[in-house]
Amino acid sequence: MTNRTLTTAAGAPVGDNQNSQTVGRRGPVTLQDFWLIEKLAHFDREVIPERRVHAKGSGAFGTLKITHDISQYTKAKVFDTIGKETPMFLRFSTVAGERGAADAERDVRGFSIKFYTEDGNWDIVGNNTPVFFIRDPLKFADFIHTQKRDPRTNMRNATNIWDFWSQSPESLHQVTILMSDRGIPKNYRQMHGFGSHTFSFINAGNERFYVKFHFKSMQGIENYTNAEAKKLIGEDRESAQRDLFDQIEAKNFPKWRFCIQVMTEEQARQYHENPFDITKTWSQKAFPLIDVGVIELNRNSDNYFADVEQSAFTPANVVPGIGFSPDRLLQGRLFSYGDTQRYRLGINHHQIPVNAPLNPVHAPYHRDGAMRVNGNLGGAPNYQPNRFGAFPEDASVNEPPLAAEGDIARYDHREDDDYFSHPRALFNLFDDGEKARFFNNIGEALAGVPQEIVERQIALFEKIDPRYAQGVRDALGKPGPVSETALP
Ligand code: HEM
Repeated sequence: MTNRTLTTAAGAPVGDNQNSQTVGRRGPVTLQDFWLIEKLAHFDREVIPERRVHAKGSGAFGTLKITHDISQYTKAKVFDTIGKETPMFLRFSTVAGERGAADAERDVRGFSIKFYTEDGNWDIVGNNTPVFFIRDPLKFADFIHTQKRDPRTNMRNATNIWDFWSQSPESLHQVTILMSDRGIPKNYRQMHGFGSHTFSFINAGNERFYVKFHFKSMQGIENYTNAEAKKLIGEDRESAQRDLFDQIEAKNFPKWRFCIQVMTEEQARQYHENPFDITKTWSQKAFPLIDVGVIELNRNSDNYFADVEQSAFTPANVVPGIGFSPDRLLQGRLFSYGDTQRYRLGINHHQIPVNAPLNPVHAPYHRDGAMRVNGNLGGAPNYQPNRFGAFPEDASVNEPPLAAEGDIARYDHREDDDYFSHPRALFNLFDDGEKARFFNNIGEALAGVPQEIVERQIALFEKIDPRYAQGVRDALGKPGPVSETALP
């Protein structure tokens, strides 16, 4: 490959790639040096918009292998046979940092999977946590603005972060996870993944079940402390990317157990909490994990930009047998991902190889658009109904009706919901060592935040457990450290 002659983008051989064409030995360059112009013009356009969140990421290809029969819950073909293998692509990420951010930050990690099933692409766009900071899509932009740079100083701002959290009690569960030992995973292999939202399964009898997706790391869990991460970032900003790439190159393929929790529609109606609230988990005692299969990452991409940067995941990518739920955060996401990808990658981003389904696509009513490169379905009719009866629908994939009723209003979930018992249960699981590190992490993250906000946040911690609040108070009283680089 390397000894082939260099060509222009149009395929013509290039005679000189070292010297621009000039008027005389010391004169200016010519406009007719189209090779120079093509090179500069291409370079000028190399950068595409980064993802608005989860901009720094790593990805790899792999396989899902089914180990258990769950056909009683879903007719999705991906699950229909024990031993069945489905190719997949997985992208990990941090959330708040930009494309060049360091990997070992205290932050949630993204866990996005694209399964290339025979019925089209199924994406699970999850995190390494089972819950989220907010439960209403109307608050996402506000929340992310506090995580990103301050509009005036262009610096991360702890005051903005805690100002928002201290007025959003629904964030307490996720904040407790983020400030715990699990807030800085050592790498992407040694952490779990979660679909986080409630989704639905539809079986062959057209019955609906509600489902949560879990991916349990078979490498175990490993985390960094703040001090370890701080030191590491000084030496290696790409620690998680390096780990994933090197381990796969060394054929030490990471694996996760793919498990589900299942609720019937009746159980969802009877459940003591809103089963569609992403700030809460489902009891694993009442709804135990059911093994489904194993995912394995076994091939690095040959080109980071082509596959990892251009990958586009959306929770709206479901296949027959898998559906959504009334989770309102999920409902907001169903719009947002395709929308941002039309901007970030273009209307025809489904044709980029990493995003293209492996099964044939017959979507003749989507035509044209920038960068249409797949033949545009030739002369196939581009309207329906048409006299050819071309491209009929398949009513068998329609979901059963979902009952819904109620008065339309903007209901305030913060008035009557319990945002304390879940983080309390988690806090009670921490041993003394973890509690000490946890208080210290919050203390460091609260450094420099105005007292009024600190007090408002501690009042929320108090409602979780007075020992939680006291531990944070004590940590704040400690002399020492801490700069804003330790912030989430
Ligand atoms: C990426 C929006 C909540 C996980 C993104 C992107 C947007 C976005 C615009 C960039 C996508 C791209 O450029 O391709 C939202 C909105 C949310 C929300 C509006 C709530 C209303 C969540 C939640 C999770 C999540 C709850 C996890 C459970 C991810 C992941 C990525 C991502 C993993 C990176 C995808 C990739 O690897 O390419 N989100 N998000 N997001 N989001 Fe969300």
